[in-house]
Amino acid sequence: MSSKPKVLVTREVFDDILEYLSQSFEVTSNQSDVPMDSETFAQKLSDKEGAIITLSDRIDAALLTRCPNLKVVCNIAVGYNNIDLEACTRARVMVTNTPGVLDDTTADFTWALILATARRLTEAEAYLRAGLWDGWKLKQFLGLDVHHATLGIFGLGRIGQAVAKRAVGFEMKVLYHDVRQPPPEIEQICHAHFVSKEELLSQADIVTLHVPYSPATHHLISKKELQQMKPTAILINASRGGVVEDAALIEALHTKTIAGAGLDVFENEPKFNPKFLDLKNVVLAPHIASSSRATRYKMARLAAENLMAALTRGNPPNWLNPF
Ligand code: DGY
Repeated sequence: MSSKPKVLVTREVFDDILEYLSQSFEVTSNQSDVPMDSETFAQKLSDKEGAIITLSDRIDAALLTRCPNLKVVCNIAVGYNNIDLEACTRARVMVTNTPGVLDDTTADFTWALILATARRLTEAEAYLRAGLWDGWKLKQFLGLDVHHATLGIFGLGRIGQAVAKRAVGFEMKVLYHDVRQPPPEIEQICHAHFVSKEELLSQADIVTLHVPYSPATHHLISKKELQQMKPTAILINASRGGVVEDAALIEALHTKTIAGAGLDVFENEPKFNPKFLDLKNVVLAPHIASSSRATRYKMARLAAENLMAALTRGNPPNWLNPF
């Protein structure tokens, strides 16, 4: 019988990370990567001291009552809206996330969405692949210029800042709105000017969202906000589903209230609203903004290091609910 603490890894990770964990823990892992239903997840977690989980795994008070040995859950994500932090604190379960390691990769992908949406890249590619291209036309796939446009960033945290810095090369005007205004030196480095929510929506050619999901940011962008945007503007969301009200966005894209959208995240992922598929003026991606090989490795490694630190020293580096 092993006397090592038992831990669960809910989804596939890199082999050497499993080896690292196996040195100190008795590891149960789901390397087949088939998502577990909530009952299977609860059963597997019930005798564990720690878990490495992903944003599809929900941790709430009811689940915690079934896991008396649980000391730590380590999310492989910077966002942690899948975890009831207060319930974890009440149950004395440490929670960790993976901040910092994915900022640049997520900012790069935000720019991929900005450029693809503004220049209608996926729409044009679908046209070409369908064999419809019969020659160069002056007015074919007319898009929005990104250079010298006005970029509006909701949330000037680490990822928002990385997005802003990349706008310098495009010689853009950068506006931002945030509930917490960062220090002036951050504004200077990012060449970003604070404006109200309304000013941002009405002035930006490109609106991009970099806020965490919470009750305060639920449907931050809904019908009213979409109507405040320019009809030529585009909306980019690589933050979280639920920050945008998808039904309102679908309507706005359909009626051309705004020109386009680039989305990496959706309400009710992965069962997103199928009406998006009927629209040509939206670029769609399956929540891959942080998915470069190097960054996804760093995220998994950081989660494993948090688990190790939590169960050996009781003090993980990215502890979200210190008690
Ligand atoms: C995060 O880290 O929150 C990302 O959404 C995961 O890809």
